[in-house]
Amino acid sequence: MTSASLGDWLCAMPKAELHLHIDGSLEPGRMLQLAAKNAISLPYASTAEVEAAYRFEDLQSFLDLYYLGASVLRDEDDFYWLMMDYLQRCRAQNIVHTEIMVEPQTYAAQGVGLDVIMAGFKRAMAEARDGWGQSVLLILSMLRHLPEADALATLAAADAYRDSFVAIGLASSEQGFPPEGFQRLYAVAAERGYALTAHAGEEGPAANVRTALEKLGVARIDHGVRSVEDPALIEDLRQRQIPLTVCPLSNVRLRVFPGMAQHNLLELLDAGLLVTVNSDDPAYFGGYLNENFLALAEHLHLTRAQAETLLFNSFSASFLPAAEKQAFREQLVLAIDHWSA
Ligand code: HPA
Ligand code: ZN
Repeated sequence: MTSASLGDWLCAMPKAELHLHIDGSLEPGRMLQLAAKNAISLPYASTAEVEAAYRFEDLQSFLDLYYLGASVLRDEDDFYWLMMDYLQRCRAQNIVHTEIMVEPQTYAAQGVGLDVIMAGFKRAMAEARDGWGQSVLLILSMLRHLPEADALATLAAADAYRDSFVAIGLASSEQGFPPEGFQRLYAVAAERGYALTAHAGEEGPAANVRTALEKLGVARIDHGVRSVEDPALIEDLRQRQIPLTVCPLSNVRLRVFPGMAQHNLLELLDAGLLVTVNSDDPAYFGGYLNENFLALAEHLHLTRAQAETLLFNSFSASFLPAAEKQAFREQLVLAIDHWSA
């Protein structure tokens, strides 16, 4: 297969996305429209100015603009459109299942509560499910630059929406806010029956991945690319088949790797780890899920066999019940057979 036809094939195949911050899908046009509607002043006069600002030095320089962007979201309709815009992208990119991180602490800063957020999100999710069968799970993602007590309060507030969230996660600044500061949060969430994931080994060291596994008890790692710095950790991740939700365009934009040609995703995959491809914050990093796959095809000589493994992994690494994972993998087998026939 040529790189171009592999790209066409990848775009056409059914796939899951497991690492997506909903605020990271806020496109510049929608951001400016909501800012005008809600009379919020932003330092941008046009989408070109927004895009020009998206040249990041590191994770923190991105996060500063990411929280600024999210500050335009105020009422139920704003949250409806944020979710609907992304779910329409899913439909267009054959993302048949998606697991979306929601960060209520971001909106609490502007006095917006979970009732407003969830009313908008749930309306969009119901329309997408009824309209084209879109499968969605939500992850309650906590901000690690805020105190653990704040995350515990957010977890308690989410009790009213217990059925809407499958898992909890931990995002924001990894440097200076290591996983060991959130052991109580994860213990309480485990007791409440949430699945557990956390960002680790993105900008922070492999030790954060180890700590997230051992002290937080996570079943999945968001990013985890710096695990390669610890061969014993790589062996554990392989043996336990702990999923890594890797985000290639994000890692290059945030300078975790100097360029896509230096990304270690295929090295991790070839070492037998349960690696998946994801977009993280597509509106900020230059592409949705298919563009992430296309970047691997273009810069890393992705083979058809590796691509198939990544697509199967996307379902296997999800938080869906076993029977639903299997049904999606069977849908993928049919799509592969149909394409070849
Ligand atoms: N890392 C940490 N926090 C985040 C990210 C990320 O890549 N994207 C949005 N919040
Ligand atoms: Zn992320």
